[in-house]
Formats: sequence, C-alpha cells, structure tokens
Amino acid sequence: MSNIVVGLDIGTTKVTAIVGEISEDESINVIGVGITPSRGMEKGMVVNVEETTLCIQKAIEDAQRMADLPIDLVYIGVAGSHIESINNVATKQVTGDQSIVDSSDIDQLLAEVQNINVPDGKEIIHSIVRGYKLDSAPLQDPLGMKGSNLELSAHIIYGATNSIQNLITCAFNVQLSVAQVILQPLASANAVLNDDERKMGVALVDIGGGTTDIAIFKEGKLNYTKVIPVGGTHFTNDLAYFLTTGFSEAEKLKIRYGTVDPRKVDKNLVLEVSIVGGDEKRKVNADVLCEVLEPRADELVDLIIQALGEGVGDLKELSAGIVITGGGSQIRGLESMIKKKTGLSVRLGRVKSVNGLTQKVSNPMYATGVGLIHYGYHNYEKFAYDTKEGLIGRMFSTIKGWFL
Ligand SMILES: Nc1ncnc2c1ncn2[C@@H]1O[C@H](COP(=O)(O)OP(=O)(O)OP(=O)(O)O)[C@@H](O)[C@H]1O
Ligand SMILES: [Mg+2]
Repeated sequence: MSNIVVGLDIGTTKVTAIVGEISEDESINVIGVGITPSRGMEKGMVVNVEETTLCIQKAIEDAQRMADLPIDLVYIGVAGSHIESINNVATKQVTGDQSIVDSSDIDQLLAEVQNINVPDGKEIIHSIVRGYKLDSAPLQDPLGMKGSNLELSAHIIYGATNSIQNLITCAFNVQLSVAQVILQPLASANAVLNDDERKMGVALVDIGGGTTDIAIFKEGKLNYTKVIPVGGTHFTNDLAYFLTTGFSEAEKLKIRYGTVDPRKVDKNLVLEVSIVGGDEKRKVNADVLCEVLEPRADELVDLIIQALGEGVGDLKELSAGIVITGGGSQIRGLESMIKKKTGLSVRLGRVKSVNGLTQKVSNPMYATGVGLIHYGYHNYEKFAYDTKEGLIGRMFSTIKGWFL
C-alpha cells in the first residue's frame, strides 16, 4: 500500500484536502494542505454539485502543488441529518470442527449483524465491531477459541444513498477515486481522542459550520453516533439577522467579539456595524452580540445533552467527559457552558500526533481532515469505489477492517 493517504473534508464552510505521508513508525507527516471556502454545501450536504466540484478542484490543486505529487485517491467524510445508527447483535451456534470458532462462523455473523431494516433510499456506511461473546464471556477475537454460542455486537451507521452519491460524484468530477466514505465524527475522533479517554468513556463533539457531529466511546468501543443539523453558521446567521448586517460582517463580529458568556462581555465596548445593502453604519453595544449568541448556544448544548442522553443514558457514564472540536467549538464561553450544563469535564480537542505542516492543521477545524487520514490508513481497503466504473460496491477485505 502507498504510504501517501489523502483526507478530503468537504465541510459546510470550507473544503480541506490534506496529504499525509505515513512514516515507518505510523505517524502522519503532513506534506500538503489545500483549503478553500465551501460553496454548494448546506448543513453538511451537497446542494449544488457543480459549485462543490469547483471547490474540491481548488483544494486538491493547492494540496498537490504543496505536496509536489499527484492526488488520485481520497478518503472523504460524510455528515448530515440523514445519518442514523443503531447497535445490533447477531448470534449463532459454532459449527467448526470440535466446536472451535473458524473464519466461516465469523463471516456468517458479520453478514448477519448487518441484516437490519435499512429504510428505502438509505445504505450502510459503516459496520463496526463492538465486541464478541463466546458462551456469554466477552472476547476481543474469538477465532480459534472453543465454545458453542457465539455473539457479535456491532454499531451500524447508515445514510441517504443520494447524499453519499453526491459527494462521490463531486470527487469523480475532478478525476478522483474515492477509497472510502467515512462518517465525519469517526474521523475527527481519530485525530483528537486518546485511547484512555475511549476506555473510560468519552463523547467527541465536532461543532462545525453546518452540523454538530457526535461519537461516543465506552470501554474502548464506539457506542453511539449522531449528526445534529446545527453549527457555527447558525450563530452567524442569527447575528446577521438581528443586526441587519451581511453574513461576512456578522462572521467577523462573532469571531472577534462574540461570546456566549454574559460575564465575559466588555460592557464599555461599542462596535460600528455596517447595515446590509448600504454604506450606513450603526453603533451597537458589544453585549448585544452575547444576547443573540447565548440563546443559540443554549439550544445547541441542550441538543447535545439530549443526544448524549440517548447514547449513554446517564451522562456520568462519560468518565473522561466531553472533547469538543471543529471550528464552532472555539466560540468564547461555549466550553464553560457545556461544562456547567453537563457537570462533566470538557476539553478542546486539537489535532494530535502529526508532524510536518502542523501549524496549518493544528486548529480544531482540521480535526476531520487529519482524522480521515488516520482512519483511512488503519481501515484501508474496506470499501472500494472506481472512477471509471462508478460505484462498484463494497468489498469487505479483512476482519481487521471492521475495527476502529
Ligand atoms: N475563533 C472562532 N470563534 C468562533 N467561531 C469560529 C472560530 N473559528 C471558526 N469558527 C466557526 O467555525 C465554523 C466552521 O467550522 P468547521 O470548519 O469545523 O466547519 P465545516 O467543517 O466547514 O462544517 P461542517 O463540519 O458542519 O460541515 C464556522 O461557523 C466559523 O464561524
Ligand atoms: Mg466539519
């Protein structure tokens, strides 16, 4: 396998292509980065193939130039509210010689556990093994073990075929082959979480521009995933609406002066805000920004708490707390609001263990792009798509490909 892996994160606000060279010690050396503002994307989904294609082309060209090598294969992330997931369990009697579990027992279970009622128009994106039990005893790998009743539990993630196909079409349009489509929070989790956190119980919350993506891990295994269709863009839109200003002016104000914590507002600060569609400016007290942003943050945190509740029941199960990442996680006061409302520890997840152009990808905004490289490298060949033939379907290669 090539030691070059490319992550293509087609986000709601920016498209990022990151070229990673995998070193002998399996660390990622970032050798090329292309970042361009997104067009044709809404709430994590493609709404205009032509526009998104052009953005991908620009990001890929920039990354190619920097890395000084051609890019033809990419791992892409998928998100959007069409994504659903369930945990499923399959069981079978061991039929191998002398009741020893053989690969056909495992293959049958892997097929059986995916036998779920996927709604029309949706398809399975990931089937991730959570664990096996042989005669009720938990096991990592049952192959070669003696027993009679084998059980497999897996986390199955599925999404709308059209939305997935639109992403692939945009990549095909610029002659890229898609090695695998990966759920964005799984990618981000690979870039920012550590093994201890996954063992203790942790929620990864990637607050992007159009969506907030959640992945919960317990006892080292993926337990729950969810995509909430609210992100940083909603905060900016609220500001633009209330201040009757343009989106880019509202975006600047949010990033420079915005906070969701009224105690952090500089009460003496007066801002000059341009009125949309004219040269006129209006004076606005800085606390107005907080008055607009705080309720939106409150609503988003409630949605996050609701999702975490669905995932683990009691939030105390998350012993390692919550790791927030994505560009939207940087809004001032949000981290402490989540801490206060959940009673859990919260940390900002920055991209870990990369070398090379680390400055360019250290912002939490790039967690998905870098995570796609991690995920792609460790799960190589799980799915295969071909540019010329179109979608040629999934090819499950090895059981290893089923583990996160
Ligand atoms: N310093 C900052 N303070 C507040 N918000 C910020 C900051 N930097 C970026 N953001 C916000 O982060 C959001 C973009 O985050 P990100 O790049 O992770 O999204 P995306 O990947 O394009 O979107 P998605 O993952 O939802 O499809 C924007 O709404 C932007 O305003
Ligand atoms: Mg994103």
